[in-house]
Amino acid sequence: MSLFKVYPLYQMTPSHAKGCYVYDNKGKKYLDLYGGHAVISIGHSHPNYVNGLSNQLSKIGFYSNYIINDLQAEVAKQIINQSKCKNYNLFMCNSGAEANENALQIASFHTNKSRVIAFKNSFHGRSNAALGITDNKKIKSKLNKLIDVTFLDFNDKKGLLNEISKNDVCAVIFESIQGVGGLDQPSTDFIKFISELCKKHSTCVIADEVQSGFGRTGDFFAYQKHDIKPDIICMAKGMGNGFPVGGVLIKNSIKSELGMLGTTFGGNHLACSAVLAVLKTIKEEGLMTNTKEIENYFRTKISKIKSIKKIKGRGLMLGLEFDFEAAELRKNLIFKHKIFTGGSANKNLLRILPPLNIERKHIDMLYKALKIELS
Ligand SMILES: Cc1ncc(COP(=O)(O)O)c(C=O)c1O
Repeated sequence: MSLFKVYPLYQMTPSHAKGCYVYDNKGKKYLDLYGGHAVISIGHSHPNYVNGLSNQLSKIGFYSNYIINDLQAEVAKQIINQSKCKNYNLFMCNSGAEANENALQIASFHTNKSRVIAFKNSFHGRSNAALGITDNKKIKSKLNKLIDVTFLDFNDKKGLLNEISKNDVCAVIFESIQGVGGLDQPSTDFIKFISELCKKHSTCVIADEVQSGFGRTGDFFAYQKHDIKPDIICMAKGMGNGFPVGGVLIKNSIKSELGMLGTTFGGNHLACSAVLAVLKTIKEEGLMTNTKEIENYFRTKISKIKSIKKIKGRGLMLGLEFDFEAAELRKNLIFKHKIFTGGSANKNLLRILPPLNIERKHIDMLYKALKIELS
């Protein structure tokens, strides 16, 4: 028996990792500007993380959601404190797709409607409804196509007004910065328009913060720049620094019912200890401030390279756009310069998603490598 092959693999086997570095099984050191796809938020093997998880494991790692887990209440309290999202309740799950799947389920229960408005080039995950509202035909089966969804362009006010006015839409879901799609962003004016229109037509606004949340943009959630209050907020990736965990924040005005949602593993004791370690470190080390500071440094330094057409994104969710395909450059960065970066649906884009405790010297290393490759 072999593995079910679905990933195009880079030929490198990591053996351990520390801070912003990953080491392979031959002892080579790689700078991690990819964070395992925006997952590593506080750095690899952070002492808070290692101690938090080890201590918890020696007490209790898991028990069912049908008994009290006071760590979940602590996670909820601390997320609310740090994000300043008052008047929300938390439901914990295991991944980004699952967070979005639950968000859609909540919206449909709450509004008693089923059509969803999503945006072109969106990515929301690999479960059924999440794939249904993902704009990528290549990865959708016939099953996913049964989800009732309408895709609009960002900033298409007329289209949105037309669709919402039909009064059959349970949710509008958006990424404040499209991750897999290639770092495009809707305007503040448009996001406010979504929020106002949804209020009028009893439709839920869902912010998919799976990639952009937990401090990655320098705000706790990326949508906060637009000064709205979504009905539902989905998070995952950076939340557990690699431990599989997701969460959904749900406005108080949406009422729960016993049995309405459920998960076996979601929000278990180990997952909660991972999230608490992440939250503690973001706060103690001022990682959201660091994110903004390093973004500014990155923009100043990297924009000196003339062959870069555009620097896209926000905080430490950044992309370098070229007028050529970036795959070869990405390969050279890994194998020649020992620097991990990411790709996206936009083939001309190189994505930069490092741990939030990255330093200026790491940006200098990228600059040096890009200078060599692009001169
Ligand atoms: C915006 C967004 N939503 C949802 C997901 C799915 O998350 P997961 O892979 O944890 O299911 C992703 C993953 O890349 C994402 O970027």
